[in-house]
Amino acid sequence: MNNSPVRLQKYLAQCGVASRRKCEELIVSGRIAVDGDIVVEMGKKIIPGKSRITMDGRPVKSREKAVYYLLNKPKGYVTTLSDPQGRPVVVSLIKNGSSRLFPVGRLDLDTEGALILTNDGQFAQKVQHPSNETRKTYEAEIKGQPHRATLAALEKGILLEGKITAPAKVSLLARRGNSSLIRITIHEGRKRQVRKMFAHMGHPVFHLKRTAYGKLFLGNLSSGKYRQLDSRDLKKVFL
Ligand code: URA
Repeated sequence: MNNSPVRLQKYLAQCGVASRRKCEELIVSGRIAVDGDIVVEMGKKIIPGKSRITMDGRPVKSREKAVYYLLNKPKGYVTTLSDPQGRPVVVSLIKNGSSRLFPVGRLDLDTEGALILTNDGQFAQKVQHPSNETRKTYEAEIKGQPHRATLAALEKGILLEGKITAPAKVSLLARRGNSSLIRITIHEGRKRQVRKMFAHMGHPVFHLKRTAYGKLFLGNLSSGKYRQLDSRDLKKVFL
């Protein structure tokens, strides 16, 4: 169910490059590279869908059809492929999914909401590459009642860990006693960025949910549920 490391020669054979034995010969003769480095020894393990494998400089493509899912990640699930602490992993929620499935980017353990999973490494790279500025929208329940100036500062960019955050879109959705519900859209992907941005302004986040990638919205998918994405959905990610 998850794409755990596999031996290079086994992977090459699965991709239909040649028989396992022939693939071993290809490796020994220096024709195979992993992430740009020629590999000649046999013990090398790679991560299907993540490691970049080439033969004679040309990408080795998996025979598997590309699949894409939008999951409503529940709290308490990790977005890594395995967890030494034994916590549940998001890929385990996709029933009968590809064995090479992996999440596109990450969501914190305590964050819920929209998470794309795929076996398509190129698509994942495109979503995450900074030059594409893929927009991610979150709803954050934060402590207290932020001033308008605070929200404006977050929109414009704040100095966070030595670097100004890129312009964001921020709006107040509701005030609730001693908390507020804020919608924020960012296109950077720093670790725990939304939580850090609000905490920095004195409004720690109580609850965080990603509601969209671009114009691909989570909609009414309930927690732990997922749907398969088609090419129209995939285009919305970049809108
Ligand atoms: N920002 C966060 O703080 N957490 C996430 O999971 C995603 C964005």
